[in-house]
Amino acid sequence: MASHWEEFYKTHLPPTDFEDNRSLLKEFCERHNSIGERIALVTAVHFVPFLQSGGTTVPLEHNTVRFVDNFSAGTRGAASAEYFLEQGYAVIFMHRTKSLEPFTRHFNGQKFMDMLELNDRGPNTTITVKPDSVDVLAPVLANYKAAQETGKILYVTFTTVSDYFWLLRAACECLGPLGPKALLYLAAAVSDFYIPSSELPTHKIQSSVGAPTISLQLVPKLLAPLVSLWVPQAFVVSFKLETDENILIAKARDSLNKYKHKLVVGNMLQTRRQKVVFVTPESSYEVLLSREQMINGMEIEDLIVSNVVISHSNFLASFKY
Ligand code: PMT
Repeated sequence: MASHWEEFYKTHLPPTDFEDNRSLLKEFCERHNSIGERIALVTAVHFVPFLQSGGTTVPLEHNTVRFVDNFSAGTRGAASAEYFLEQGYAVIFMHRTKSLEPFTRHFNGQKFMDMLELNDRGPNTTITVKPDSVDVLAPVLANYKAAQETGKILYVTFTTVSDYFWLLRAACECLGPLGPKALLYLAAAVSDFYIPSSELPTHKIQSSVGAPTISLQLVPKLLAPLVSLWVPQAFVVSFKLETDENILIAKARDSLNKYKHKLVVGNMLQTRRQKVVFVTPESSYEVLLSREQMINGMEIEDLIVSNVVISHSNFLASFKY
């Protein structure tokens, strides 16, 4: 009998741009593998119907007018991607369309417009960056240009939970040949529930027929095939979000025992920007921003990524080929 995740692939078609993305992933992984570079796959933002994290949507109709969403804009993934690049990794940034992206995340909304000056001189109109914004824009722009020009970052996007499933498996197939040099940093909050494609109405649900009854099914846990079958030699880091501190470490440990990967980064909804807990099979320890670091504008992702990179390096050093 097919397992739950195999059944999911059988009943959900790949997205229309799947082959294009698969080619991009293959080329990216082969290029960086051929020069011995490490690659980090960073996932950010996924469908979470009821209050977990990740700022994504679960469509309620094929022609989607309504969907269920959540709070997260994908800050952790976007910020972490920048820090992995700083640490010399090539980065596959797998994120939901319209979620935050590395570099541009610093200038969201009106912030970017406010940095610019319009010198309206008719046909000779120019736009300049305000002098006091240059210091803010220049370092981010320099890092962005460096990543683009060296081909160190690949952006792949998804919209639905099944897009995510197809892309993640394709990325793993391409990362497999890197063995332990591949790092998977699964910061996306993957939906625990979904509405199977076969049960979605095609058209907008009509209010005239009364309140709809929505029945959700369990999404298969991809960590299981990912760790045991797709990238068994890779360094896999998963995340665990909770709102009750008393169960956070136990849940992280359960996940390690179940999937047998290397590290779970636990975080609480309320304090996730200041504090996380690293849980390994042997130990657990907190990683937190000091007051001074916060005042200086440091981000917790800087510390998380530095610690993950140290663990990945130790893992590589101890890896028996
Ligand atoms: O985006 P931000 O606002 O910055 O917030 C960051 C974050 C809170 C979203 C992030 O730090 C985080 O905690 N992400 C994981 C949230 C979570 O608990 O996800 P989960 O319980 O659905 O999944 C746990 C792990 O299993 C995840 O690493 C996930 O990738 C994996 N999983 C989950 C479901 C599923 N079907 N398959 C999976 O492999």
